Amino acid sequence: MDGSKTPVTAPVLILLGPPGAGKGTQARMLEDRHGLVQLSTGDLLRAAVAAGTPAGQRAKAVMEAGDLVSDEIVIAILSDRLADADCVRGVILDGFPRTTVQAEALDALLQATSQRINAAISLEVDDAAMVDRISGRFTCGGCGEGYHDTFKPTAKPGVCDHCGSTEMKRRADDNAETVAQRLAAYHAQTAPLIDYYAGQGALSRIPAMGAIDEIATALESVVAQATA
Ligand code: AP5
Repeated sequence: MDGSKTPVTAPVLILLGPPGAGKGTQARMLEDRHGLVQLSTGDLLRAAVAAGTPAGQRAKAVMEAGDLVSDEIVIAILSDRLADADCVRGVILDGFPRTTVQAEALDALLQATSQRINAAISLEVDDAAMVDRISGRFTCGGCGEGYHDTFKPTAKPGVCDHCGSTEMKRRADDNAETVAQRLAAYHAQTAPLIDYYAGQGALSRIPAMGAIDEIATALESVVAQATA
C-alpha cells in the first residue's frame, strides 16, 4: 500500500449478484445520490487490460472466457484502489468480493483500518433474463454511463444523456456463450458469499427483476438503515 494514500473510513457497501443483475447500474445511482465511490473490479480489470499492464495481460483471456481472474491479481488491484484518497468518502463494491478468499481478504483490509461492512446486498434475479439484459447493454465511452437497447435507451439515439458523447462501447465478454460461463462461475464461486455475509449479520436481499427505479428505491431504504 502506498504510504501517501488515505485508508477508507466509511461506509462500505457490497453489491452481490450475477452478471446482469444491475450491480453497476445501481452502484452508479448510489454514487450520485450519496457521494460514495463505486469500485468495480470489472472496470479496474478492463482498464488494466486496455493499458496492457502485466496484470491486465494475465487477466485478458480469463475474462474473455467468462472465468474469474485469480484472487491474487484482483485483491492486489482492489486493495490498491481502496487506499486512494477519494475512498475516504465511503465505497460501493461492485463485483468484489467474488470468492471466499476475496471476502476474507476484504475483512482483513477493513479490520486493519478499523472499518466494517455496513451491508452486503444481494440483487436477486432470474438467470434466464440475464442474457437479454447483457446482450442489450452499451456504455458511454465519454463518461461510462450504462445503457440498454430496450430497458434504458439514450433519450436521443447514439448520444449520451449525461455528457453528450457519441462514442458508445459494447463489452467483449457480452455474448451469450461467455454469459453462460459467467453465470456458472457466479453460482459456483460467488453465491456462497450470500451465506458468508448472512453469517456476519450483514446480508440484505432485494428482489431485482423490477424496473431500475423501483430497485433503486428498495436499495435506498436498505442503505439508509445500514448507514444510520
Ligand atoms: P464485471 O464487470 O464485474 O461483470 P459482471 O459481474 O459479469 O457483471 P455485469 O457488469 O455484467 O452486470 P451488472 O450486474 O453490473 O449489470 P448492469 O448494471 O451493467 O466482471 C467482468 C469479468 O471481470 C468477470 O467475468 C471476471 O472475469 C472479471 N472479474 C471482475 N471482478 C472479479 C473478481 N472480483 N474476481 C475475479 N474476477 C473478476 O446491467 C446490465 C444491463 O441491464 C445494462 O444494460 C442495464 O442498463 C440493464 N439493467 C440493469 N438493471 C435493470 C433492470 N432492473 N431492468 C432492466 N434492465 C436493467
